[in-house]
Amino acid sequence: MLNCETLIRNARVLDGSGGNAEAVDVAVREGRIADVGPRLQLNALEQIDAEGLVLAPGFIDTHTHDDTSVIETPAMLPKLSQGVTTVIVGNCGISAAPVRLKGAPPDPMNLLGKAEYFRYPTFASYVEAIRGARPAVNLAALAGHTAMRNNHMDRLDRTATPAEIEGMRVDLQEALDAGVIGLSTGLAYASANAASTEEVQALAALLHAAGALYATHMRTETEGVLDAMQEAFAIGQVASAPVVISHLKCAGIDNWGRSGEVLQALDAARARQAVSCDCYPYAAGSTTLDLKQVDERVEITITWCTAYPEIAGQSLARIAEGWGVSQLDAAKRLQPAGAIYHSIAESDMRRILAHPATMIGSDGLPHDAHPHPRLWGTFPRVLGRYSREEKLFSLPAAVHKMTAMPAKRFGLADRGMIRRGYAADLVLFDPEAVIDTATFADPVRAAKGISHVWVNGALSYTADGPTGNRAGRFLARQKCASSHATPTRVEVIPNE
Ligand code: ZN
Ligand code: CU
Repeated sequence: MLNCETLIRNARVLDGSGGNAEAVDVAVREGRIADVGPRLQLNALEQIDAEGLVLAPGFIDTHTHDDTSVIETPAMLPKLSQGVTTVIVGNCGISAAPVRLKGAPPDPMNLLGKAEYFRYPTFASYVEAIRGARPAVNLAALAGHTAMRNNHMDRLDRTATPAEIEGMRVDLQEALDAGVIGLSTGLAYASANAASTEEVQALAALLHAAGALYATHMRTETEGVLDAMQEAFAIGQVASAPVVISHLKCAGIDNWGRSGEVLQALDAARARQAVSCDCYPYAAGSTTLDLKQVDERVEITITWCTAYPEIAGQSLARIAEGWGVSQLDAAKRLQPAGAIYHSIAESDMRRILAHPATMIGSDGLPHDAHPHPRLWGTFPRVLGRYSREEKLFSLPAAVHKMTAMPAKRFGLADRGMIRRGYAADLVLFDPEAVIDTATFADPVRAAKGISHVWVNGALSYTADGPTGNRAGRFLARQKCASSHATPTRVEVIPNE
């Protein structure tokens, strides 16, 4: 009789593959799944009778801005409470490293927190800090193009010179050597919008040899979204690197109804190259308060504001009315600030969410005073609202979008599935009860129905709250020479 630390009995196990639930026991030993099978005969330090519950691989939040949170607030409750056990940081061109700030972090790097949080001149120093902080969830990281531009350029509203590009390439190579899984851009933002396609290509050229990928908040998500997608695909093709389109959407009222064309373009690209996307399950976006996105037809809520901190949570329309000015003038007066934009059609969001190439990414903003509810609600909302209640896709398909699909795309070779030998990142939840409770009015609320969460085998969260265990790790990009039996290079992933 083999011993194990934890034995989870009688759960309906969704292994992450997208296949149907199986009634099997799962045993955990030394941070890994020791065995999976019916009625395991094992002695366990702890046995859990999971009758009526679903056991799934821990969820992977494919799109986060948790770069500094994993160090400053390592309990990571917004994520752990949803059953998330791994976060991908460094999205939208912004990352905490490699960063050498000369003053305040430029927009949108300020989404990652205040200047004091940026103290990692190299990526290796960031990895060291994560080891010291011991966050409660695992993380894998992208290196941000805008962050690297800011290291080498005196101003960000122009394309980089060859010498500046060379400086960024040195930064990116250091980050790749220290384990990042790829490069991200945020070309829609003023701090990167002037970068030429060639500038990005010069960086992306380093990805293939490393087996790394390219993730992008595209140059635009409004009228020109199709051209922006083609730019992203071309960058991936020239670099021979997989492409992840971040938070795919049709933004702005004038673009509502275009999700069909957008997904057609995605499918056309998937026929020739490795492409996927992520999506959050809300009809509203959130970022810094962007004057280009101020539209009197769109409901806008302020999420944080340096000059008027008490204003967080109020609508821009109300603020403008109170001041007797236009919304645009009010938005200028509030800078710097953050906002939620109700500028996405629910029907478009649903179509993108349900697409077979779509992974789940919260895009939650952990430093916002009044955050978008996606920070605390994304994963239970996909499971409870969009799968169980709205029947947009089956529960196994929903779990697949949060587990094996992203694990495969991001090269997390031994995660995202319940298989013997895999890391014991696990979530036990009640399929009839799981639901988000965070709302736009009251966004800082833990989800319901999450029963147990294990990270690397350590029980980290239960329905009573966090256990205090913090067992997350930095997940370095896995190289060919890995001892694992499964292929681990990121670039050879066929489409789903
Ligand atoms: Zn973004
Ligand atoms: Cu983002």
